[in-house]
Amino acid sequence: MQRGFISGLNSSHIKPGETQLRIESLQLNFGGVTALIDVDLEVRQSEILAIIGPNGAGKTSLLNCISGLYHPQRGRIVYVNDREHEVTRMRPHQIARLGIARSFQNIELFRHMTVLDNLLAGAHIHMNSSLLSSLIYWGPAQREHIQHRRYVEDIIDLLEIEAIRHNTVGSLSYGLQKRAEIGRALAMRPSLLLLDEPMAGMNAEEKEDIARFILDVNEEHGVTIVLIEHDMGVVMDVSDRIAVLNFGQKIAEGTPDEVRANRHVIEAYLGEDTSVFPFKFNKSNNNGS
Ligand SMILES: Nc1ncnc2c1ncn2[C@@H]1O[C@H](COP(=O)(O)OP(=O)(O)O)[C@@H](O)[C@H]1O
Ligand SMILES: [Mg+2]
Repeated sequence: MQRGFISGLNSSHIKPGETQLRIESLQLNFGGVTALIDVDLEVRQSEILAIIGPNGAGKTSLLNCISGLYHPQRGRIVYVNDREHEVTRMRPHQIARLGIARSFQNIELFRHMTVLDNLLAGAHIHMNSSLLSSLIYWGPAQREHIQHRRYVEDIIDLLEIEAIRHNTVGSLSYGLQKRAEIGRALAMRPSLLLLDEPMAGMNAEEKEDIARFILDVNEEHGVTIVLIEHDMGVVMDVSDRIAVLNFGQKIAEGTPDEVRANRHVIEAYLGEDTSVFPFKFNKSNNNGS
């Protein structure tokens, strides 16, 4: 299906499968707590990479390092789009402008603003016109604003949130707030989208919707997705690759089948029963209907 985005979501210059993000020997401590120990990880252009692991494993901390909220004590993070950018010490808004957007485990939207205004706020990280120039040169700023507005309307359409676009975020159900938050991240036109438990607390139907949006954004626009998710059915079905964290260390990495069969993973995380993965979406046979 053609969604008719007015300009591509994905502005990356590299080819699918090439390294888009390189995490090298990352070490993050909070006082005596070591959240990440010597983590190496590669994210490839246009893949869906899931990060799994028990609570406290360091999953959110890893996303926080990538998006600049935490700065690791050791190691580095290199992001590639038109060229290599070392983002390890950059500030969050600089990293966002390079094309890395995220959603949060605990929703971080402006609760008193409408869904539409939250999305527009996301789109405005790319607004070139300053306030002063928009006073002097009303035309260009206005044109830019209209472009953002159209773009945001396309995202509203993609996420099927037309009916709630003028509702304040605080008045919405948890599931819809989560959806709006993904919308806000998409409005930032990411080449790399980081999603921290986007389906937590949702029922099966809501999860299916979110999984479908993730696959759409990935397959139709080539946006790379790094997904933290606890629902193993979803993870096994939508991911190209999976990385497993345990107590701050990466203990496994591979395709869903490889990870499912990995002894360390079974011991640390999945438990005995790895046979039942009921989720119906599958990246390879997603026909976009
Ligand atoms: N801001 C912080 N201050 C202190 N400790 C933190 C902070 N953020 C994370 N941690 C600690 O780092 C470890 C990993 O946490 P987190 O990354 O949230 O794990 P996960 O997302 O896998 O559940 C935990 O022990 C957690 O308590
Ligand atoms: Mg977490």
